Amino acid sequence: MEKITITASKTYEVLTGSGLLPRAGAYIRQALGEKVRKICVVTDSNVAPLYSDALISSLEESGFVAVKFVFAAGEASKSLRTLSDLLEFLAQRQLTRSDALVALGGGVTGDLTGFAAASYLRGIPFVQVPTTLLAAVDSSVGGKTGVNLEAGKNLAGAFWQPSLVLFDTDTMATLSQDLLLDGAAEAIKAGAIADKELLSYIREKPDLKDPAVITHLSGRAIEIKRRVVQEDERDIGARQLLNFGHTLGHAIEKCSGFSVSHGHAVAIGMVIESRAALQFGWSREDCTAPLSEILKKFGFPLDCPYSASQLTQAALSDKKRQGDRLTLVIPVAQGDCQLKELPVSRLEEFIKAGLS
Ligand SMILES: NC(=O)c1ccc[n+]([C@@H]2O[C@H](COP(=O)([O-])OP(=O)(O)OC[C@H]3O[C@@H](n4cnc5c(N)ncnc54)[C@H](O)[C@@H]3O)[C@@H](O)[C@H]2O)c1
Ligand SMILES: [Zn+2]
Repeated sequence: MEKITITASKTYEVLTGSGLLPRAGAYIRQALGEKVRKICVVTDSNVAPLYSDALISSLEESGFVAVKFVFAAGEASKSLRTLSDLLEFLAQRQLTRSDALVALGGGVTGDLTGFAAASYLRGIPFVQVPTTLLAAVDSSVGGKTGVNLEAGKNLAGAFWQPSLVLFDTDTMATLSQDLLLDGAAEAIKAGAIADKELLSYIREKPDLKDPAVITHLSGRAIEIKRRVVQEDERDIGARQLLNFGHTLGHAIEKCSGFSVSHGHAVAIGMVIESRAALQFGWSREDCTAPLSEILKKFGFPLDCPYSASQLTQAALSDKKRQGDRLTLVIPVAQGDCQLKELPVSRLEEFIKAGLS
């Protein structure tokens, strides 16, 4: 088992390893203390039949009273409606401020549960048990929680750190190859931002079916996220580095009507952004070729079917834009990204350079 300690507004551990789920109760008891009595396990309709029994038995063995809230799997459930159903459920089951939530699932479950934990009774503890690679390497750490609004993704939420993150790598066995790739894209992104060794490791071992590879990838990616979040928990500076590939990635997701998944879009976005950075003279070395080589080894489709003008339009409707300038994440060398401001008026030119 690997252990990483995150020190943000709250200090907590990320435990990664095989066989953790059946022992989750003991770890959760240790993290939450003796006073916590009732736990609501929040999970979706795909994950519930796979893993909720093991988790709940383990919680009960550790003396918790466990209740379960199951919602329909999918991004559409990351909504105010599901949040409201969940909050009402917690109230009906009479959870108190000394009780807690456990998110068992992917990023949708983690974001929704975290926001419910942040708002129920003005805040109760919660634990993340990520079951997608994306949730393990990205969304379960760092305390960003929330739901989507009609007006856009992640527009309502809170910063609320978990008390523990427990990643049982055995849960990767039931994940589709496409979902594994979505997580891998974020791990490769972490390497591109700050860890050249991780990039070399991935290049040598692009095997997501190997639990040792999963453990190594997630450990290094979480370590990078730890460093960035500790420096800038509320996302006003360095945390923006985690957005490498995301300006274009979000634009591609949007242009595709969200038929291209987030990780797949970020993979293409990273390639476009690094090619453009090189053409603009902002990189010390060519980061595009080595990055594309890794992504191709995993089987990511890297062709972008959208024009610079379509992508620019989509990118400019993003909520993260401030005024007439835009902050881009630029690879200056392999494993080393920096923030760079670009006037909005030059975005199309930048994207064109990246597509060429
Ligand atoms: N909070 C953050 O910092 C942060 C960061 C990145 C992404 N996110 C959010 O994460 C979400 C995407 O996360 P996701 O891709 O994990 O989505 P998800 O939670 O919808 O999971 C994807 C699919 O996999 C299924 N699933 C989950 N675990 C499984 C398993 N072990 N075996 C089989 N199927 C399984 C789910 O039921 C779902 O159908 C988005 O809403 C995104 O906004 C948040
Ligand atoms: Zn992402």
